[in-house]
Amino acid sequence: MSTHLNVALIGTRFMGRAHSNAWLSAPRFFDLPLNPAMHTLVARDAENTKAFGDRWGWANISTDANATITSDEIDLVDVTTPNNAHKDLSIAALEAGKHVACEKPLAATIDDAREMLKAAEAASGQTFVWYNYRRCPAVALAHQLCKAGRLGRIYQIRGCYLQDWAGPDTPLMWRFQGDVAGSGSLGDLCAHTIDTARFITGDEVTEVTGGILETVIKERKILEGAGGDISGHGAATAAKTGPSTVDDICLFLARMESGALATFEATRLSTGYKNANRLEIHGDKGAVRFNFERMNELDFYDATADAAVQGWSTINVTSGNSGHPYAGNYWPDAHILGYEHSFVNEAADICMALGGQDPVVPLPDFADAFKVQRVLEAVTQSANNGCAVPMSQIA
Ligand SMILES: NC(=O)c1ccc[n+]([C@@H]2O[C@H](COP(=O)([O-])OP(=O)(O)OC[C@H]3O[C@@H](n4cnc5c(N)ncnc54)[C@H](O)[C@@H]3O)[C@@H](O)[C@H]2O)c1
Repeated sequence: MSTHLNVALIGTRFMGRAHSNAWLSAPRFFDLPLNPAMHTLVARDAENTKAFGDRWGWANISTDANATITSDEIDLVDVTTPNNAHKDLSIAALEAGKHVACEKPLAATIDDAREMLKAAEAASGQTFVWYNYRRCPAVALAHQLCKAGRLGRIYQIRGCYLQDWAGPDTPLMWRFQGDVAGSGSLGDLCAHTIDTARFITGDEVTEVTGGILETVIKERKILEGAGGDISGHGAATAAKTGPSTVDDICLFLARMESGALATFEATRLSTGYKNANRLEIHGDKGAVRFNFERMNELDFYDATADAAVQGWSTINVTSGNSGHPYAGNYWPDAHILGYEHSFVNEAADICMALGGQDPVVPLPDFADAFKVQRVLEAVTQSANNGCAVPMSQIA
C-alpha cells in the first residue's frame, strides 16, 4: 500500500488557505500511516491559482476540476467551494472512486445533501466533512468527559454562535445569496453548533420548534467581480444594490432523543462578538462550557465533588502529559493553539482513518453531516410555517 495520499484541493480563499495549511502541517506534527501529498490545486483563475499554489507548496495547479477529480493520480478530493458547488464536485469525485473531504454545511439544500449521501453510500471512497470545531482540544475533551459519564444525564444544551461582521456596509457576497449559500447564519454558523452539540453529547435532535430566520439587512451593495471573502473585501459598487435572501439571525428550540432540551442561536449581527462559538451543557453530575474565543480553555463543573469545593474550574487544555486530546502533538503545556490547528487535527485524523487507524475523536462523514442538514431543514420549516417540526417529518 502506498504511504501517500494524493490530495486535490478545490478553492483558494478562506478555507483554501486553512486546508492548505492543514495538509502541509499534519504530517509534520503527527506520525501518520498515510502522509498527505499536496498534489493538485484547482481554482478558476489560472494566475491567482499559480501564485497561491506556489505559496503553499501545491505540486500542480489546474483550472479544470473534472480532469483533476478523475485523474488516476488523485486519491482524495477536498472541496472548499461555496455550498451550492459541494454536490456536483463531491459526487463526481465519489463516482471516480476518490475519497472526499467536503466543507460544511454538507450542501446548500437538503435535496443536494440527500443526493450526496446516496452517492457516498454507493461509493468505494470514504467521506469526511470539515466540522472542524470537534477538533479543538477543549471540545474533544468535553466529548470524552461526556462519554465517560462525567456529566451524567444531560438536562440542557445551550448553543450560540455570535459574529458581527454583517452590518449594512457588508456587500452582497455569496454568503447572502440564498441560491448559492442555501441559508445564512443557520448553515454558516449554527450548523457548527448543532454538530458540536451532537458530537459532545452523542444525542440527536428529535424535534425543532420556535424557528426564526430573520433577514435584518434586506438590501446590500453589489460586489464587482466574483465572490467577496468573509471580511467583505472586494469592491462594492456604490449605487447598485441587490436583495439579501438569507437569514442574518436564526433562533430555535429543540428536544433531544435523551429528553434534554436545547436552545440554539446564531447571528452575524451580534455587535461586539467576533467568533463566539459557545456551548454550555448541563447534566446531573456536571456541566461544561466552551467559548471558541477562548479556545484553549474548557470550563468544567463537577457536581459530584464535595459541595464545599464545588465550582467552575477552567482547564487549560494544552497538556499532552495530562492526556488532553491532540495537545501532545504540539507544544509544552500552555503554549496555546489557534484556529488553524482544528483543521490540522482534522487532516491528521483523516489520514489516520484512511490508513486504518482510529482518529483521536470521531470524524463526521456524509451520513453524520446529513443529520445536521436535516436539522437545518427542520429549522427552516419551523420558521416558514410557525410550527413544531418532528425530525421524523424530514426525510
Ligand atoms: N469549517 C469552517 O469553519 C468554515 C469556515 C468558513 C467557510 N466554511 C465553508 O467553506 C466553504 C467555502 O467558504 P470560504 O469562506 O472559503 O469561501 P471563499 O469565498 O473564501 O472561497 C471560495 C472558493 O471557491 C471558489 N469557487 C467558487 N465557486 C466555485 C465553483 N463552482 N467551482 C470551483 N471553485 C469555486 C472560489 O474561487 C474561491 O476560491 C463554504 O462551504 C463554507 O461554508 C467553513
